[in-house]
Amino acid sequence: MDVFKIQGGNSLCGTVAVSGSKNAALPMMAAALLTDGKTILNNVPDLVDVRTLSSLLTSLGCEISRHGSGSLSLEVVDESHSEADYELVRKMRASVCVMGPLLARRGHARVSLPGGCNIGHRPIDIHLRGFAALGAQVDIHQGDIIVQATQLRGAEIDLAGPNGSTVTGTCNLLTAAVLAQGKSRLTSAAMEPEVVALADLLNEMGAKITGQGTPTLEVEGVSKLTPTTQAVIPDRIEAATLMIASALTRGQLTIQNVNPQHLSAVTAVLQEMGVSIYESGLSQLEIACERELAPVNITALPYPGIPTDIQAQLTALLCTLPGRSVIRDQVFPDRFMHCAELNRMNAKIRQQGDRAFITGVAQLQGAHVMASDLRASAALVLAALAARDETVIHRIYHLDRGYEALETKLNFLGANVTRCREEDVQRRTPIERPDLRRSA
Ligand code: EPZ
Repeated sequence: MDVFKIQGGNSLCGTVAVSGSKNAALPMMAAALLTDGKTILNNVPDLVDVRTLSSLLTSLGCEISRHGSGSLSLEVVDESHSEADYELVRKMRASVCVMGPLLARRGHARVSLPGGCNIGHRPIDIHLRGFAALGAQVDIHQGDIIVQATQLRGAEIDLAGPNGSTVTGTCNLLTAAVLAQGKSRLTSAAMEPEVVALADLLNEMGAKITGQGTPTLEVEGVSKLTPTTQAVIPDRIEAATLMIASALTRGQLTIQNVNPQHLSAVTAVLQEMGVSIYESGLSQLEIACERELAPVNITALPYPGIPTDIQAQLTALLCTLPGRSVIRDQVFPDRFMHCAELNRMNAKIRQQGDRAFITGVAQLQGAHVMASDLRASAALVLAALAARDETVIHRIYHLDRGYEALETKLNFLGANVTRCREEDVQRRTPIERPDLRRSA
């Protein structure tokens, strides 16, 4: 297994371009199952999750090839399979996004019920309720979900859950409803830009969807979709992570290939802390720290709120601001595994329920820490960039799932990040101990 060794203390400075969005690319790739012919997606990041979904789609009869930097061509050549391999699904819960397209196009899908998750309870009951409303028979057999229907029929589906709407659920039901007979109305739908990106792709393919970006999506079913070419939107979570990295290291960054509108809640909260952020051009942000930063209280919410996917990174930043901050996560109320690791780096966080109470410290201290999920890993990397001495982050395979070339980008901006094998890392730096026997 690989680890990151990070020597902290350098301010990040320079220009960096954000990659395509992982969470937009995944459902867009799955949507290729809805057509025959070649779907071309541009600006697809080269990540472990994208490769895992590519393997799954290949096993479902798709021919996939990558051209140049970021262009993915997907073509269905065999529609006889509709069962997703357990080994691939268990690696990545976003694999459930093949269910909607398989059901709509092949009339059947069998996918493992996702198991436990490090960021908290993640049921898919709303997806299944929605498929049933569209007329599918939904069964659970030996840990697998089996959905089937000869013809889906348009329906009214409410996507509200206890913690807001569901992003992948909205994608799954949208991709099923586009080929249903008649009209569907999805209420309390997720408004995330990744859902809008999927709806835009489906409309390009000939679907009739209106209301994307609002809580109500109207879908007029069509009998056939045709493949198209579309670019994946910039990754707003990677952009936000870089913005926070800039603030944490009190650096100065120009971040390219962003959609500033997708980042408005993040921009607002960083500005509230005192970070200077300017739009320079249509898809570029300038980040600088021109004054002392101040603590804030934050709640992670569904879009357009502050994303849960940057709650951990914001927590790392708040650890370094003098005074007290509170950060709450209303989307995944148990997503706080990074706090104990940050505390090992001299942070002062007390977690209770869906909140972390943070008291800023003058300096974080390098340590051996363990990444527990993708965004927790990012938070540890950010904390390490600002910490004194060396930090070793174990289990960075989480990071490789969702950030394209993160260490290359950070090193280009002045960071000191080295990837090495776990076995090559010295566990502890020897410390000089006074000879107590002599002084006694
Ligand atoms: C997506 O997960 C993202 N993943 C997550 O990003 C992100 O954290 C999350 O949306 C919230 O923004 C992808 O897009 C691949 P949800 P998803 O269904 O769709 C509850 C990352 O780090 N819920 O919107 O699986 C659920 O428990 C990842 O990139 C139900 O109750 O999340 C949660 O509290 C991690 N029943 C809330 O809704 C359901 O049927 C939102 O979950 C479905 C969800």
